[in-house]
Amino acid sequence: MCGIFGTIGDDAAMRTLEGLRRLEYRGYDSAGLAALFDAYDRNARVETERAVGYVADLANKVNGRFKHSVIAIGHTRWATHGGVTEVNAHPHSSTDGLMSVVHNGIIENTSELLSEIKESGYNMSSETDTELIVHLLHQALGNQRTPEAALDAFSSVIERLHGAWAIAVIVSGMNGILVAKNGAPLVIGRCENCVSISSDPMTLYGSCSEVAYLDDGDVAYVSKEKIDVISDSADISFAPHSGDYSPEDPGVFDHMMLKEIHDQPTAFQNAIAGRVSADGKNAMLSGFQLNPNELRNLEKINIVACGTAFFAAKLGVRYIRRLSNVPVEAYLSSEFPADSVCGKNTLTIAVTQSGETKDTLDAITRAKVAGGHISSICNVINSTIARFTGNGAYLYAGPEYSVASTKAFTNMSAVLMLLALTISEPDNAERTRVIRGLRQMPQRMSNYLHSDIDFDPIVNQIADSNTVLFIGRGPNSHIASEAALKMMEITYLPCIAYPAGELKHGPIALIEDGTPVIAIAPDDSHYPKMEANIRECAARGANVILVTNKEQSAEDFCSNVIRVPHTDPFLSPFMSIMPLHLLAYRLAVRLGNNVDRPRNLAKSVTVV
Ligand code: F6R
Repeated sequence: MCGIFGTIGDDAAMRTLEGLRRLEYRGYDSAGLAALFDAYDRNARVETERAVGYVADLANKVNGRFKHSVIAIGHTRWATHGGVTEVNAHPHSSTDGLMSVVHNGIIENTSELLSEIKESGYNMSSETDTELIVHLLHQALGNQRTPEAALDAFSSVIERLHGAWAIAVIVSGMNGILVAKNGAPLVIGRCENCVSISSDPMTLYGSCSEVAYLDDGDVAYVSKEKIDVISDSADISFAPHSGDYSPEDPGVFDHMMLKEIHDQPTAFQNAIAGRVSADGKNAMLSGFQLNPNELRNLEKINIVACGTAFFAAKLGVRYIRRLSNVPVEAYLSSEFPADSVCGKNTLTIAVTQSGETKDTLDAITRAKVAGGHISSICNVINSTIARFTGNGAYLYAGPEYSVASTKAFTNMSAVLMLLALTISEPDNAERTRVIRGLRQMPQRMSNYLHSDIDFDPIVNQIADSNTVLFIGRGPNSHIASEAALKMMEITYLPCIAYPAGELKHGPIALIEDGTPVIAIAPDDSHYPKMEANIRECAARGANVILVTNKEQSAEDFCSNVIRVPHTDPFLSPFMSIMPLHLLAYRLAVRLGNNVDRPRNLAKSVTVV
């Protein structure tokens, strides 16, 4: 979702444009830039440019005009208040043009503040909640231009806002940027000759040698010389920031999604490296505040997550129940009943790729308030949720840019499996078999991805459908849900997933001649019942597409069979999901959709 980048230093606007390019993966619909060319001229109007569409469209409009600017802030917007228009794109400037603001998040008391601003004689030119911030600041700051006065005025404005935000403001005549953070990410990066602010520390790799993380509630004036901060927590401290920025580059693949599907063997290897022993006897997921014994003695584990991460969490629940005796449940973050399920001896784990999902951040915050332990399983290192929980495990899937999550799903499932193994009783009979299976998985995935899989006949069958139904049983019911979500988000076809046992209790009504039904039926204890469900669908005219690793399977009743490599039944979801992610991808390409940036969706969902 929205992203903020800003720079104080030579060619500030050009650096800011590059920062915005690096933030593109988060998802946005318009972009904008504001810059000052002389930081000491208090009458100079802030130069701005905005564009609907991509950062490249903004760069074209800018057309070199912002060269030699000394301070700049930029923004990628994902519309919340007001439509996708240039007028609503950030930055928003004061009526006299002397200050400009960019903002992520939502101001909840907009209506109340708007009437006040209007009564004071300010006119709004946009439909956004953001614009009122600049008018409030204009009113509070007047002509004052000292860092102390600016910080005081800005913090008095921030005190009046309800909701969540990251905000950056530039003011003519001031050689710095005012920033505030509450519930949306914002970091400050420093190098020898420039200072930057960004929504994502990864964007600062290569340009800033050290970074400082703002805490919720912080309000600061950031300049090259120093950082003045008003904070409830400790003073801001910088730490070395080193790492390689991996650009969003699909390389030999046509899209990032396809590349990330093919990244899976390496990503999976990284998830288990150092966490399973070579003899297959031990698995240990370290990083949790509680040791394995304390974990085993918990009254309950709650897992909170959204979307794809929730389906990985549901799989994780099955693994934990199967391998340990600890009561566990997965909850959608937005529906998490913290007050009823958290207590002194409970642990709530946030599972999240980005580590920024606001619903999940809110759920884990509620768990902390309710008095239980909290941890996280995240992909993005030092993300808001990783820092908030302060303990847990990383996914090590590498950056995931495509909005449709693939390798992060696999690694979430793998890391939750490792957690289950960590808390399982050491003499659990399944341990060695499962650990051996995990160790073999990267090679199996790689072999499968390198095999020739012809999706065209299936794509042809589904492309003109009105609905696609996904069914599975046991752990593969969650694979049905994940596969349906993935196909729906990038093809825009209504895709519905049900545990196959529910078929006759409703969804079978959807089936008519030619309805595609994707049935996930590996060779496990659920297979006989799955075969019965497949026959029921076929008898009503469905085109059943079977995903299986069973040799003698129900192919006579199916229009297509997708064969996946044989694995331990416990691990079959890791295999079943691969062709289904690939199928969703192929179908989206056939339909001519923007696979990596599906409409209306964002990679980082930082508002509720
Ligand atoms: C689906 C997808 C979303 C995310 C969800 C949670 O492909 O990407 O459903 O899984 O928004 O995001 P994270 O994992 O970043 O919390």
